[in-house]
Amino acid sequence: MKIFTIFTIFPSWLLVTLLASLFFIFYTFLHINLKSKNNPSIYNLPPNPPNLPIIGNFHQLLGKPRHQALWQLSKQYGPVLQFQMGSKPFLIISSPIMAKQILKTQDHIFCSRPFSKATQRITYNYSDIAFSPQSHHRREMRKILVSDLLGPKRSRVFNNVLVTEIETMVRELALRLRPPNVAVNLNELFIATVKEVVCKVAFGGDYRRQPVNGPSWEVVVDEAQEMLGGSVGDFFPWAGRVIDRVSGWSRRMERCFTNLDAYIETVIDDHRKDQRVEDDDDDKDFVHVLLELSSEDNDSGYRLTKEDIKALIMNVLTGGVDTTVVTLVWAMSEIVRNVRVMKKLQTEIRNHTGRRKQKLDISDITEMTYLKMVVKETFRIHPPAPLLIPHECMSHCQVGGYDVFPGTSALINAWGIGRDPSVWGENAGEFYPERFEKFEVDFEMVPFGGGRRSCPAMNSAPVTIEFVIANLLYGFDWEVPNGVKNEDLNMEDEGTLILRKKVPLCLVPTKYKWKD
Ligand code: HEM
Repeated sequence: MKIFTIFTIFPSWLLVTLLASLFFIFYTFLHINLKSKNNPSIYNLPPNPPNLPIIGNFHQLLGKPRHQALWQLSKQYGPVLQFQMGSKPFLIISSPIMAKQILKTQDHIFCSRPFSKATQRITYNYSDIAFSPQSHHRREMRKILVSDLLGPKRSRVFNNVLVTEIETMVRELALRLRPPNVAVNLNELFIATVKEVVCKVAFGGDYRRQPVNGPSWEVVVDEAQEMLGGSVGDFFPWAGRVIDRVSGWSRRMERCFTNLDAYIETVIDDHRKDQRVEDDDDDKDFVHVLLELSSEDNDSGYRLTKEDIKALIMNVLTGGVDTTVVTLVWAMSEIVRNVRVMKKLQTEIRNHTGRRKQKLDISDITEMTYLKMVVKETFRIHPPAPLLIPHECMSHCQVGGYDVFPGTSALINAWGIGRDPSVWGENAGEFYPERFEKFEVDFEMVPFGGGRRSCPAMNSAPVTIEFVIANLLYGFDWEVPNGVKNEDLNMEDEGTLILRKKVPLCLVPTKYKWKD
């Protein structure tokens, strides 16, 4: 029978209803079948909140941020629970002991990442470090990032750039003191400073202001991050893909990739034209090194393709800037809101340094123990990635005595674990840096994840944050504007992959007057 005759016999609404019913029956059948496959009499499955056909447990995430909804469910079902989002199984981890199971004891099993449409496209078909499944290629790429950008080899350049950029930031702040009592938007200030540091250390130039055909790179990176959060098609393979197309998500994703790619192309082209590669090693930036590793003459190490280089640059852009900026904003918010902490921290910084300086050096902060505790406390209460990046299970194993199957993605609730009173005591919700005088941290806070997929910047990123905060509190006092008391500062958050402060942080600085 030809298609047009079907349409003449059945009206289109009837056909749609019929197809939808068939689809529903098929999905329900699949759902029941999968359940019986993981027969509880053979396997000990983790507790699973009641789920619905097709959508699974999605409805339990409605009306609340994901990390909060999952934290509440863990109170009811325990620290290991199974959670179905559409066709994808997840394991929700909500205690330090279980986090250690995933990130250390069984790290070799949980060190892969799940597939998603956006990650595949934006990472040049999984050529990157952060979102690719576990592989030899990924390990080699990670080694390159650690040795040639984040490791001791580049620390001199990194420290010099950091000191120079913070000096510029402090000078900029000093200019904003006239007229007095005007609030400064610290989100803007931090974004400008951190981007400058990352671009100069990694790309050797001021790409923040470099014009490219298309939107600014702030917009490009923000959009890429939103896309990396996932789409309907990731959870509902057939219908979801149609929805992605109809809703315009696929088009937006393609446009986002094209813009990001154009930006990265510019960076690479500029470096190709640059002759410094031939010269002194000290003059080379990270991209020069990557280009060397891609050349035919490279017989010293792993040979990179152009796609690999682009994927590495993409990881630095999307992973390195926002996380640092978000943490700086939370740190300053907590410090200003807790005046006792602010005063104690200023005393430490000013006593240690004295009045001799306009700005601090990196060596000045190494012995500031309270500063380190303040930054640690910020990471505990405000881990920028509240559920880390999913860790995918590669083979059948047991977690907390429960069977877990390959293809299950573990989500570690870093946000919940960091605020759990059963771990941190009655004052878990309070910003109290002194707790680290006694507390030895193992897996009770995991802002940088752990194991083979831990953040490779976990040692260098806190230094940047400590250094910026030390400089802001050394020369300035801070207040919330418009007569609002410091302790009443708005602390609402928003976001999925990265949890940021909802309202930008605007504070009034005054220059600190040294007593004679
Ligand atoms: C405050 C700063 C930062 C925080 C809180 C942070 C946090 C994280 C987290 C939670 C993960 C996932 C870990 C896991 O899944 O177990 C991660 C991975 C990663 N981060 Fe960071 N990050 C920061 C800064 C940076 C910087 C500055 C860079 C690079 C320049 C960077 C590059 C990466 C990369 C490449 C990965 C993927 C690692 C892998 O999968 O092997 N991050 N980061």
